[in-house]
This record gives sequence, structure tokens and C-alpha cells, in this order.
Amino acid sequence: VRVRVPAKINLFLAVEGLRDDGYHDLTTVLQTVDLHDELDCTLHGPPPGALAADERRPMHLELRHDAGPEVPSGPDNLVLRAATAVLQRLGVPLAEGPGGDDDLRTVIDLRKDIPVAAGMAGGSADAAATLLAVDRLWEAGLRREGLEELAVELGADVPFCLHGGTALATGTGVATARVLARGEFHWVVCVGDGEGLSTPAVFRAHDDLPARMVAVAPDLVLQALRTGDPVLLAEGIHNDLQRAALTLRPALGAGLAAIEEAGALASLVSGSGPTLLGLARDAEHAAVLAAALRPGFPGVRTARSAAGGPRLARDRHPAGEGELYGGGEAPRG
Ligand code: C5P
Repeated sequence: VRVRVPAKINLFLAVEGLRDDGYHDLTTVLQTVDLHDELDCTLHGPPPGALAADERRPMHLELRHDAGPEVPSGPDNLVLRAATAVLQRLGVPLAEGPGGDDDLRTVIDLRKDIPVAAGMAGGSADAAATLLAVDRLWEAGLRREGLEELAVELGADVPFCLHGGTALATGTGVATARVLARGEFHWVVCVGDGEGLSTPAVFRAHDDLPARMVAVAPDLVLQALRTGDPVLLAEGIHNDLQRAALTLRPALGAGLAAIEEAGALASLVSGSGPTLLGLARDAEHAAVLAAALRPGFPGVRTARSAAGGPRLARDRHPAGEGELYGGGEAPRG
């Protein structure tokens, strides 16, 4: 099973407060952009979901990826945590090591194009893609509700990544409601060549800063999404984590200024950073901005939002290819 899964950006993110469990309540508007990771899952042996419970053997899992050492390959990787969570639901024990020819095993190949530790939910997207892929591959039959329950446990962005598209999220980010979005928006995505930023560290830095004095609300962003108007979106986009990211990485300030000087409608830190976003009027404008910013940001890219949800790119199952969740709609089958 091959799944392609898009990255996300937060068009609006307000931190509403620190909770007792250490997480923060948020109001955030999320949208997928067309930077994708791709995941191939190959099963050697019979799908455990097709067997009776007492015939199910332990499963070996192996993850291979093409990213650098900053992406773990061991049990900490969200891909393996997601796959292990599905095994638990099936009552199939996880066997140690990658296994050999005679063992029941699944090999997961991950090709990363979403920037790592960049504030674009790459790890969460991979986790969502894994849930969808192994559910199919293992004939686990967890369906939408089962996968959503597991997604909530894996991370705050994972439920959104299961569906993609455009959503308003509240609570810790796991309660998502689909938002009406027309047209598309065009961005320059300025990926730093330095280290990523740790999301918990950015939230901690946020808590150490004086509270914001003005109320913020996503109304303008939601209106811009309804009309597809990038100028209105530029007025409304907001990220409460931006100040914290700038405190931890002051050089980001010059990057934001450069994006505005190049003529972007607005500049923004993506999620918890350190990726910077510039909003363009249209695709052509995004290309012009990218060319202007390339000397300072060799890794600059253009992207379009919204980019739908995870898609099944190859599958030997009879249901065939297509959008897994239709960008927020009920799954097929
Ligand atoms: O849920 P996830 O593992 O993606 O979150 C990473 C970290 O970001 C959490 O451990 C927490 O420190 C912080 N976070 C938060 N409030 C949220 C979401 C994430 O404090 N709503």
C-alpha cells in the first residue's frame, strides 16, 4: 500500500491557555499544502485481520526512511508508534527486530519531502498515513472512528492529518470541524538550513512571555476562506507562537522582514517554526517571490493550499486508488 500525505500550515493559531496536563488549549485554522511525504507499506505473510484471533502470529516491523539522523528509525518514530497502536487493536503482539523470511513482517519505506521539525506537521502526517495504510494492509477494519481514536493518542495534529483539507480545531487541537474553503492560496515556504525547533520548547517559551493584551479571533481568516480572497487572508493570518519562536531564534525576524520586502501579502511563522511562510497573490507571484528570496533561503519552495487529504497512490486491494478520506468526507468501504 502506498499513501501520499500532505503537510499542513496554521492560517490562524491562538493559544488560549495552559491546561493541567501540560498541553495548551488552542483555536487554530489548519490547511494542507502540497508538500508530501510518501509511505510504502509491504506485508510479508497473511493479513492478520483476515485470520482468526488464535491464528495471528507476532508481527515484526521495520521502518526505513531517506531523511537524516534527526528523524529516528526506532520505536520513537511516530510511524512505528502508529503501526504498533493498530497491532494492539488487533491483539497482535509486536515481535522484536525486523524479522526474517519465515516471519510475519511489515516493511515501511518513508520518503520525506515535508521539512523535518519545521512546524508543518510532517511527523503527524506520517503517523496519519501509517494508520490508513496498515489498516488496509492488515485488513484491520478499524474504520473512521477507530482510526480517529488512535490518532488522538498519537498527537494533537494527527486527527487533522487523517482528513486534511481545511479545518477549525479547538481544545488541544484534536477536536476538528471542517471549514468551507473556496479557491486556493499560494505560498512561499522558506525552510531554514539550520536546526528545527522543538514544539514543546516553543510552547514553554510562549508561557514565559507576557500574555497578549488584545483578543484575537479567526473570523477574518474564515471569511477569506469562504471567498478565496488572499488580501483578506493576509489581514487575518495570525500565530501566537510566532513571538516565542522569534525569542528562541531571533534571526527569524530578519527572514520575516525579507519576505515582506520581497512583496508578499503577509509573512508568518509556520506552526511552532522555524519554517517561514509568505502569502502570494497567485501562483505567478509565488514564483516571483521564491526567485527573490532564493539567495537568502536556498531551500525556498512554492506551495499551494488546500491540498486535500492523504491519498492512496497504489494498492493491490480491490477498492483501488483514490482519496482515502476525500479531504474530510466519510471514508469509503
Ligand atoms: O501532540 P504533539 O505530540 O504533536 O505535541 C507536541 C508537544 O507540543 C506537546 O508535547 C506539548 O508540549 C506541545 N503542545 C501543547 N499544546 C497543544 C499541542 C502541543 O502544549 N495543544
